[in-house]
Amino acid sequence: MDEIREKACAKLNISLDVLGKRPDGYHDMVMIMQTVSLTDEVSIERTDGQGIRASTNLEYIPGDERNLAVRAAGVFFRESGIAEEGLRISIRKKIPVGAGLAGGSADAGAVLRALNRLYGMPLDREGLVRAAEQVGSDVAFCTLGGTMLASGRGEILTRLPSMPECWYGIIMPHFSISTPELFRKLDGKKIRCHPDTQGLVQAVENGDLSGVCRRMYNVFEDVDDRRMRTVAEIKGRLMDCGAMGALMTGTGSAVFAVFESQKTAETAVSEMKGDHRLAAVCGNVGPLA
Ligand code: C5P
Repeated sequence: MDEIREKACAKLNISLDVLGKRPDGYHDMVMIMQTVSLTDEVSIERTDGQGIRASTNLEYIPGDERNLAVRAAGVFFRESGIAEEGLRISIRKKIPVGAGLAGGSADAGAVLRALNRLYGMPLDREGLVRAAEQVGSDVAFCTLGGTMLASGRGEILTRLPSMPECWYGIIMPHFSISTPELFRKLDGKKIRCHPDTQGLVQAVENGDLSGVCRRMYNVFEDVDDRRMRTVAEIKGRLMDCGAMGALMTGTGSAVFAVFESQKTAETAVSEMKGDHRLAAVCGNVGPLA
């Protein structure tokens, strides 16, 4: 087969904790992450050796090595020992950029899974993770998918049982947030509150959705940044619409809310649609690899 397709799933942070800055400049984190059915569509074609290039429906996204999908393909060939071939990667983006939804990492994860399939599964799960962590901190999670407890830079993963059945309403305001910028702001302050990660893991293991929602927490919401006011407003509106809990994902700017029913999620999202860059309903997606 010369063309292969793969869905790239967005990630949500059910919790996000930062433990401290490391000597290598990264931060040690503890997070519970979940893949959801808001997806980009990735397709890959072999070409007659013109290198690895990507194109998307958004013209401002680069098609060269700056694109994580291109980097993932290069790393795949290196890790698998297969001689590099020319590839054309086409990505239909629905996951917004700069939203904390790991869109670029999701595309990279999809490329790793797709190429592994295309070339007869030369990498096992460990090989995929080894390749993924060279591309970016969230890529290992995005490659494997499902519900995970992540630590280290985000690449040390422990699989959890699936999130209890629920629906998410995702709202992104009309601005994006740069991840390195928010990390820098976090470095300048003392983190006073941390999520109860152990309690959250227990709640996920017990299938206790309200226990999960009560404990959802993201330390980046406490950063001194005026954009967090908008985040708090969106969370408030989602709660007024009947959400069980709401949280910013990653370094934002997207906010998600948890709903018990699809209908309530759809009503909430349609009420908020006009005022925001993205308003979407999605559900949980289980393990991808
Ligand atoms: O690993 P990745 O390239 O996706 O990370 C993007 C940026 O996010 C890093 O350059 C760094 O500023 C920040 N980061 C961090 N600690 C992490 C993950 C990301 O400081 N664990």
